[in-house]
Amino acid sequence: MLCLGIESSCDECSLALVRDGILLEQVLASQAELHSIFGGVVPELASREHYRHIGPLFDLLGQKSGINPDELDLVAVTRGPGLLGSLLVGTAFAKALALGLNIPLLGINHLHAHLFACGLEHNLVYPALSLLVSGGHTEIHLIEAPDKLIKLGQTIDDAAGEAYDKIGNMLGLKYPAGKQIDILALEADCAPYCLPRPYLDNNSLNFSFSGLKTAASLLIKNNPALTEFTHPLHMRELSRFCASLNQSVSAVLAHKLSLALDQHTQVRSIWLAGGVAANSAVREQIENLASSRNLCFLVPSTHFCTDNAAMTAFLGEILGEMGYFHFLDMEAYPRGRKIPADMQKNTI
Ligand code: KG4
Ligand code: ZN
Repeated sequence: MLCLGIESSCDECSLALVRDGILLEQVLASQAELHSIFGGVVPELASREHYRHIGPLFDLLGQKSGINPDELDLVAVTRGPGLLGSLLVGTAFAKALALGLNIPLLGINHLHAHLFACGLEHNLVYPALSLLVSGGHTEIHLIEAPDKLIKLGQTIDDAAGEAYDKIGNMLGLKYPAGKQIDILALEADCAPYCLPRPYLDNNSLNFSFSGLKTAASLLIKNNPALTEFTHPLHMRELSRFCASLNQSVSAVLAHKLSLALDQHTQVRSIWLAGGVAANSAVREQIENLASSRNLCFLVPSTHFCTDNAAMTAFLGEILGEMGYFHFLDMEAYPRGRKIPADMQKNTI
């Protein structure tokens, strides 16, 4: 099956082609530079940019892959969660293609797509426990099959990526700050002080990162040198702070995942995904956890951790092969609204 994937949930507009589980081609237009001026994604601007890019990207994908639209068997598109205006651009484009080419449409849950990015380069092993860490979400799932994901825990306030971005903003770093913090962290050991590891004194599989943000904000206020990047000594302080932040976030994530493993001893693998899965400390800690429990560890290459359409097309093809599709009245769902289980199944 040849599946076109479309991703436009936030600030990356991307289209990709997957056939038999293999990524054939991907194109992507990032808006990160544009939004960094404002310190975060501006929804109105994002949808306009998607609207401007999506048609030319579709043509570019055809040119680069040498594949004609009439060869497509399925259009899989991110339907949420995300920014509503941005999602509407992708879903409207996907519906037009499905209608014009007379092929099925399939709406994809963006969070599930992030998790299935693990399958782009590895064989997927079930049942799995997954940790999804992105700019908007921090969640643990039990994955029993491609169409059976059970959410076990989530953040009760900020997502891990949101904490990186907000703390980065306080430090004067450009949005999104997670990658820069990670690069700085590699330059030094942790600072002598310890940033908190919030919400660990319970058995819940939920997370909380707002306390970490408050502690970081107080520390930054009391150490203005952290925001002055001109002096090498100050840079060293900043690197030590970033290393401590990496340490704190990754320790919280590993602790909660380890609790989940204690409760679900049947799992055979750990999947780590989402933008923050690109973080060096998070990758290392979760990989250590997997090896200490003799479990397979699946994590995408860093360029498949952040938003991309390869993961959308990959999960789309799996679900399409299982007979799933949506009618053309499929709706898009912004962050915060529950995505209904309304996939149709072809039983022939
Ligand atoms: O998954 P993603 O591309 O978009 C969402 O669906 O949210 O994740 C973006 C998030 C941002 O918060 C960004 O700062 C964070 O991933 N991020 C990182 C790293 N690379 C991206 N956070 C920590 N370390 C990184 N290396
Ligand atoms: Zn994402």
